Amino acid sequence: MRNSIPFNRLTPSGPELANIQSAIDGMHTSGDGPFTKRCEAHLADRIGASRVLLTTSCTHALEMSALLLDVGPGDEVIVPAFTFVSTANAFALRGARIVFADVRADTLNLDESLLKDLISPRTKAIVPVHYAGVGCEMRTICTVAREADVAVVEDNAHGLFGGYKGQPLGSFGELATQSFHETKNITCGEGGALIINDETLIPRAEVIREKGTNRSQFFRGEVDKYTWVDLGSSYVMSDLLAAFLWAQLQAAQRIQERRREVWEAYYRGLEAWARASDVGLPIIPPHCTQPYHMFYAVLPTAGARDGLIAHLRERRIHAVFHYLPLHLSTMGIEFGGKAGDCPVTEDISARLVRLPFYCSLTPDQQERVIQAVLEAPL
Ligand SMILES: Cc1ncc(COP(=O)(O)O)c(C=O)c1O
Repeated sequence: MRNSIPFNRLTPSGPELANIQSAIDGMHTSGDGPFTKRCEAHLADRIGASRVLLTTSCTHALEMSALLLDVGPGDEVIVPAFTFVSTANAFALRGARIVFADVRADTLNLDESLLKDLISPRTKAIVPVHYAGVGCEMRTICTVAREADVAVVEDNAHGLFGGYKGQPLGSFGELATQSFHETKNITCGEGGALIINDETLIPRAEVIREKGTNRSQFFRGEVDKYTWVDLGSSYVMSDLLAAFLWAQLQAAQRIQERRREVWEAYYRGLEAWARASDVGLPIIPPHCTQPYHMFYAVLPTAGARDGLIAHLRERRIHAVFHYLPLHLSTMGIEFGGKAGDCPVTEDISARLVRLPFYCSLTPDQQERVIQAVLEAPL
């Protein structure tokens, strides 16, 4: 629609098409080609991981994590109630019971103070989500997990290039997962990565990602035939998508810098309004560096939030809510979730709005969004 401001817009960095052409010219369009190798090495270096494997999505990297940790019936997995379906579904697929943890009211991240009460002898993993790319309290989470002999899988879908106490997000858990979905800072349309920090998990991760075969070993010349050796599925990203992703990764500094400008302009423009109107803006603890993944506001009431979204829509500005409380979803209720279990999640979910956020949002367009927010009746 003319003059409309979408919530998200893909911003190609430039060489995406040329890279894809080069993958075609090089006759390697399936997985594990030259672009995949470049992306994986680059990400491993940036995060400080033992190994990175590109996958078809963050959802699939989470499913790989569940397989790698041998999660099965009788096991419990702790996830925040304020998250995307995949954080829980990947483990439910293996037969685990999902245990929902409420989130902190400041960062909207899993509330680490609840973990001791939620852990049981059946707990197999904790899956903290770095909401908006702002780090969870990883020091406490990792300590609690270590004491209980429980694995940590960081769902870092939002948090590539974020940091906690000087250490990259994605480097704390035995495993971490990234998303390169179109809505993320760095994208290839649909894609993800499994970050492996516990190097003992690498050989099986390669097998699980290759349909349960030892094809990776075969390609390296370590075995003369490959065969079915374990459970697995088809989680390998095409090198065509990796070619796109490589263009984005090479432009990461420029992308991140532009996103910082957009985030800071929103903060500056809305700070006084928020203070005067009892609206919450993102809280970034001083020990966290954020990757400027999203900008949100928490309105005083659910009615005010819905009213603001409608007010912006009338002005052709597309602002959106975020996660519905997962423990109150159809599946969440099957796992025993009920109203009142996670009061912060239930409250925040009804009051949070995300504003249009992408690199090619022009200063004029952003000013239009800010003015429309300031004029909205609360
Ligand atoms: C926290 C979180 N985890 C996982 C996912 C799934 O990512 P993907 O679409 O790459 O599977 C999302 C999607 O946005 C998400 O927000």
